[in-house]
Amino acid sequence: VKSFEYSGDYYKAIGDFLREEYHSYSFTRGTQSEVEFLIRRLELAPPSRLLDVGCGTGRHSLELARHGFKPVGIDISPGFIEVAQQKAQAENLPAEFRVADARHLEAEKLENFDAAICLCEGAFGIAGDDAAHSAILTGIQNSLKPGAPFILTAMNALWMARQQGLQVENFDAYSLTARQHDTIRNPQGEAREVEFYTTCFTYRELKWLLESTGFELEAAYGAMPDNFGEIPLTWDHPEIMVIARRV
Ligand SMILES: C[S@@+](CC[C@H](N)C(=O)[O-])C[C@H]1O[C@@H](n2cnc3c(N)ncnc32)[C@H](O)[C@@H]1O
Repeated sequence: VKSFEYSGDYYKAIGDFLREEYHSYSFTRGTQSEVEFLIRRLELAPPSRLLDVGCGTGRHSLELARHGFKPVGIDISPGFIEVAQQKAQAENLPAEFRVADARHLEAEKLENFDAAICLCEGAFGIAGDDAAHSAILTGIQNSLKPGAPFILTAMNALWMARQQGLQVENFDAYSLTARQHDTIRNPQGEAREVEFYTTCFTYRELKWLLESTGFELEAAYGAMPDNFGEIPLTWDHPEIMVIARRV
């Protein structure tokens, strides 16, 4: 079977180029309401320690820190991590950020977290292949206390396949990976042409993957940026949100 191949660290160069320009994407604008949902739904109380995998510029972690939590955000892009660290310092927030590869979390000695989040393709869904996606979940599982919750959002394969603008040659039906060309801009206004690869999932695949990496599935919802809630999943939702717990 010949399916799309892409490198599981391709986003590093994109993050380093975009830096704070990442916030010009409309999907980053719902951070506050998303975080309010996470706190409510997971019944989290400060000062719990939270792991934010593929944290990008740290928007969820920074907001969680504003609510009194102690997040640790990891990301493969040094440029994004620097933006997150500068913001934490400027606001004097108890959020820690470090450069790390989510496919090798065991190297980071991240342990005893009260909860973990991996949102909006935070490494999961852009990590290259099945083994890498599975390794990310195993690493997250090992970083949690037994019984601790994990919220993951992953691109909904059914939604992606129904996108009007998506041509058949840009969607690999074996790996359920979409390829999208885009022009991105850095804070200085310079442009760069890039390919985004997004591996999509069905609910059943997520359930199997999570269960095979030591999680118990608690719930699954349909999600979209700025609209997190206990919403029944349909093919109209760009993302699938799953709530799982470390066994
Ligand atoms: C679309 S952004 C999402 C960022 C953030 N979670 C948010 O909601 O804004 C995807 C992030 O995953 C990071 N990423 C991609 N591959 C990674 C890997 N192998 N390990 C760690 N982070 C990775 C990228 O650098 C980028 O910050």
